[in-house]
Amino acid sequence: MTSPLTIAIDGPAASGKGTIARRVAEKYALRHLDTGLLYRAVAVLCASEGIPLADAQAAGERAVRLDPADLKGEGLRSAAAGRGASVVAAHPPVRAALLDWQRAFATLPPGAVLDGRDIGTVVLPTAHAKLFVTADPDVRAARRWRELSKDHDIAYRTVLQDIEERDARDAARPDAPMRQADDAALLDTTNMTIDGAITEAIRLIDARLCT
Ligand code: CDP
Repeated sequence: MTSPLTIAIDGPAASGKGTIARRVAEKYALRHLDTGLLYRAVAVLCASEGIPLADAQAAGERAVRLDPADLKGEGLRSAAAGRGASVVAAHPPVRAALLDWQRAFATLPPGAVLDGRDIGTVVLPTAHAKLFVTADPDVRAARRWRELSKDHDIAYRTVLQDIEERDARDAARPDAPMRQADDAALLDTTNMTIDGAITEAIRLIDARLCT
């Protein structure tokens, strides 16, 4: 029996990793998990249940009780949920509670593509292929602003500041900081269309899977 195929795609906010991960999963007929949604859901549930986001223990206990249905909740894609996610994501009890969940999802046949911040380094260190997707902060902010401004009146500067603060918090936390795994291929999408980035991602992954 062949072991489930696992692909890790990490990178900062609005780098294109989510869209790339979805399309890579389709291409290799794998399941896909946007792991950011787990942290977003924990933050939104804590906020709505009066649990302070800074309370690592209580947020961790809430994360233990996360239900797959919570990932379909309202407002998970908002800028506020993203900000809250990066606060609860710095708490070791929250990360520990979500680790087995992510690994169990990834190793169920036929395998999966997971996107996040620590997939190649912590969640799936032995993934068959790893990508670290990035782009210049101003390009990422412009992409995220175009998405968010469809539904909300939000200034580009606010989005840029939000992304920069979140990148700094995600990269500086002691537990599972965002970083490129030593064996991950780097994909800089600054000057790429999303279709171009997907084609390049598949080329890089094919090259890894063939070695
Ligand atoms: O979509 P976007 O890239 O803006 O964010 P996301 O992937 O939904 O992640 C939201 C936040 O969750 C990030 O800023 C991280 O703080 C946290 N996160 C994490 O710590 N580890 C992961 N594997 C995924 C997300």
